[in-house]
Amino acid sequence: MSVAVHTISDADTFAAAAAAHIADVIHKAIGGRDSCILGLSGGSTPRDAYTLLGRRTEIDWSKVTVFLIDERLVSSSDARSNAKLVHETLLASANIPASQIVFPDTSLSADTCTEEYDAKLRQLLGASGPDVLVVGMGEDGHIASLFPPVSAEATGKQFALHTTTDHFEVHDRITATFSALSETKEAVFLLKGDSKKQTWEAMLVSDEGIERWPAKFLLERANVSVIAQW
Ligand code: 6PG
Repeated sequence: MSVAVHTISDADTFAAAAAAHIADVIHKAIGGRDSCILGLSGGSTPRDAYTLLGRRTEIDWSKVTVFLIDERLVSSSDARSNAKLVHETLLASANIPASQIVFPDTSLSADTCTEEYDAKLRQLLGASGPDVLVVGMGEDGHIASLFPPVSAEATGKQFALHTTTDHFEVHDRITATFSALSETKEAVFLLKGDSKKQTWEAMLVSDEGIERWPAKFLLERANVSVIAQW
């Protein structure tokens, strides 16, 4: 598979460039199979890009199904919620039918939320996998809420896992597993800042595998593009 890095020097144009690229990939997916299963990450980097993406009129949003690649185990009204992020940005403009918005129910206990989301992701992704993923990366190399060293459960039969972190915002997370993402067609990484560049480059020269560098799971099987502002 290919990796195309698009370097954006100006922080002010990063969101617009990211939105345009993601829109292009979504548009091509719809052109290919008349629908697009879109997986979104949370965090701070994608916020403005999601807002601009939702305003792209060339996309027939009625043909898009959106899911969260991971979520923090907080209320959907909490400022740190990825569901809240997506509702405030992409879904503020993109008219995606409610039945095509697949988010975990964080009002449930961690175990019940995980079981319920596992079933939702299996139903959504079991047949053909995600068409497009929008992925960030932490400075430790994590993607989604798959924190190194990533547990072997991530390559097991489950499609959703409850994971924890002591190093990033919100300790308890729900995340899609490698198994859920194994048929991903296109992965778009949004990376801003020199620390992300250092992490990305350290990964590329490392001979350690997906336990240490979960992004390698996508590099090994999807068409990967990187929108990099560094
Ligand atoms: C989350 C994300 C996570 C994020 C990275 C980078 O819920 O936080 O899904 O994987 O993409 O931690 O986050 P930033 O964009 O805030 O640096």
